[in-house]
Amino acid sequence: MKVLVLHGPNLNLLGTREPGVYGRVTLAEVDRMLREHARRRGDSVECRQSNHEGQLIDWLQGAERARFTGVVMNPGAFTHYSIALRDAVAAIKLPVVEVHLSNVHSREEFRRHSVIAGVARGQISGFGPQSYLLGFDALTSLSRRPASRR
Ligand code: DQA
Repeated sequence: MKVLVLHGPNLNLLGTREPGVYGRVTLAEVDRMLREHARRRGDSVECRQSNHEGQLIDWLQGAERARFTGVVMNPGAFTHYSIALRDAVAAIKLPVVEVHLSNVHSREEFRRHSVIAGVARGQISGFGPQSYLLGFDALTSLSRRPASRR
């Protein structure tokens, strides 16, 4: 399995960004954990980060062509309002698992709503960097058995 991991806006600042909420692990460390996790399972992963909505949309649209089998995405704040990102997730055939470091349901009211969740295969939230690994496992277990997209 070849998994694409997308990190949205401000996640490049992990490690120094609001450590009380997001912890001290850097994005480079998250990506290293993901690569190691995938390698142990005989899978591969490519991790990309962008602060730009259009870039994330372009990567989603190109994922199938680039022969990825699924996407793990932390859309950051775009989670809560980007209809364009939601439409891109809905438009592609690949399964997308939405992940969050923090538990978005236990924070401010505006974080409780995800415009992405309804078109993603599922959402994992609140386990720190482990959310990405759980998302990876959810995705690969899905794709190992034939299933409808939703
Ligand atoms: C986040 C939660 C979002 O509400 C926030 O805007 C982020 C990070 C998380 O991983 O917990 O940037 O997606």
